[in-house]
Amino acid sequence: MKNIMSLLQEELSAAFEKAGYEKKYAKVTLSNRPDLCQYQCNGALAAAKQYHKAPIQIANEVVDSLSQSDTFQEIVAQMPGFINMTVSDAFLADFMNKMNEDELFGCDKAEQPETIVIDYGGANVAKPLHVGHLRSAVIGESIKRTARYLGHKVIGDVHLGDWGLQIGLIITELKHRQPELVYFDESYEGEYPAEPPFTMADLEEIYPYASGYSKEHEDYKEEAQTATAELQAGRKGYLALWQHIINVSVADLRKIYTRLNVDFDLWKKESDAQPYIPQMVQDMKDGGYAHIDQGALVVDVQEETDTKEIPPCMILKSNGATLYNTTDLATIVERRKLFDPSRIIYVVDKRQSLYFEQVFRCARKTKIIGEDVDLIFVGFGTMNGKDGKPFKTRDGGVLRLEQLLGDVEEQVRNKMADRDMPEDVLKDAAAKIGLAAIKYGDLSNQASKDYVFDVERFTSFEGNTGPYILYTIVRTKSLMAKLQANDIRVAEDAKILPAQNKTVTDVMLALSKWSDTVSAAYQEQAPHKICQFVYELCDAYNKFYHENKILANENVAERDSWIALSRLVGKVLEQAIDLLGLEAPDRM
Ligand code: ARG
Repeated sequence: MKNIMSLLQEELSAAFEKAGYEKKYAKVTLSNRPDLCQYQCNGALAAAKQYHKAPIQIANEVVDSLSQSDTFQEIVAQMPGFINMTVSDAFLADFMNKMNEDELFGCDKAEQPETIVIDYGGANVAKPLHVGHLRSAVIGESIKRTARYLGHKVIGDVHLGDWGLQIGLIITELKHRQPELVYFDESYEGEYPAEPPFTMADLEEIYPYASGYSKEHEDYKEEAQTATAELQAGRKGYLALWQHIINVSVADLRKIYTRLNVDFDLWKKESDAQPYIPQMVQDMKDGGYAHIDQGALVVDVQEETDTKEIPPCMILKSNGATLYNTTDLATIVERRKLFDPSRIIYVVDKRQSLYFEQVFRCARKTKIIGEDVDLIFVGFGTMNGKDGKPFKTRDGGVLRLEQLLGDVEEQVRNKMADRDMPEDVLKDAAAKIGLAAIKYGDLSNQASKDYVFDVERFTSFEGNTGPYILYTIVRTKSLMAKLQANDIRVAEDAKILPAQNKTVTDVMLALSKWSDTVSAAYQEQAPHKICQFVYELCDAYNKFYHENKILANENVAERDSWIALSRLVGKVLEQAIDLLGLEAPDRM
């Protein structure tokens, strides 16, 4: 199904041609003066140069040839040569009915679905989540859902950090505390038994302790580094402990991600890429891409056109140890082998952007990946507290996500204290609204920007907030419930009639932007565009709702058309928030 902009463009193209001008000038955009018109075309200004005519003359000729068209309520040429358009109510209503019948409400399903891997989440086992992990999960999930909605084959991978110093630190600390554990036996050969020697709560205490201690004690730090190297070299007892750490942490992470309504197709870990490293390193050497520099194996990635310095990509340290980027490169090898994606999207803190630039260049230069595969870095900004510094919890500690979710839910419950609802309904609603407050507060900002986490504002039921969006959806739901109670029946495919007043037109105009919104959000990995759409639509709908008595309208044809439009608004909003990873309660 064609979107409004292309329908208008077609019409204008024909008019340009009919008047003797090339149709490439018939480009239609949303009006930047919504007070004057809805759409505009500035092509006459560009065409003027080619045809040596005054722009206004061209604009007038085009407009004249469209004066009979049913599409427009008004189409006028404006000095110096703009073409301003307002579509007719009949055209808009017809478009609404087409949207209503379309599976994707007018979005184009991908004709050639792409295979896309999205690397997001990125939590580290045994380490507490930080706010960056929250952002990655929330933004990545929306990018994944949007691509999938358009028909692409998307694989979301949490890509857990499980292979770094954090494991060595925990092993070292355990060794100090419980040297009698069988895993520390150098001759330990066994597999790991089912019972882990620690709980998640233990790990949450052990890791920060060991990490802090290592910063002040050089010998302890070296011990941890050695333990990490021994683990990576395959020491059995350490591998068993590492496996325990993964099992305990992953169970905990699954709970957290489920609560966030974030769900991964793959629970891969950095360690899963390790088997690909030896061959990859060999190929880099054989291909002449890598060379030794002060004992380390590196690949130069600086290019002549660079205006800033891009340091070489280190593949192996002088002691033979692998690095974060060795793992990322090997993961690309693995992903190509397993999924052959045409796109890999990384949703990671923007402070890692130089790092990913190095990795991407290295991957291309060493032919790990061909030019036909897009590597896309979606770097996000920091979630700050009101003090402008990276967000901390009330006790000043790092983010305990469950704590945060709990606090926000409680705020929402306080606001809903006067509601007459059974406890379980209230609980469900508060959980959904609290989550929406957090996620929408994040997603409504352009990902690359820092933003301030403001619980007061995010949980408000008014303004551009998650709760306000959900409230509007609930409004459409309760309208539908009232139909039943009033014995009003309006068929699923009841027609939406041309609007009779501006509030209705505005709802339709807002709805008509759905397909353009989704395709822009997909192409630019920009969930905030969906938020913008949602907010505009909610605003238009609420205005309409307040200014018109829907059920009491005595003009039954109009009443039913308004109901059909409300139903469409509800459906599109629910779809939109699903792309954001949110759910609406039935009541609130
Ligand atoms: N675990 C990393 C961190 O906490 C994020 C991983 C991002 N993804 C990647 N492929 N490097 O910073």
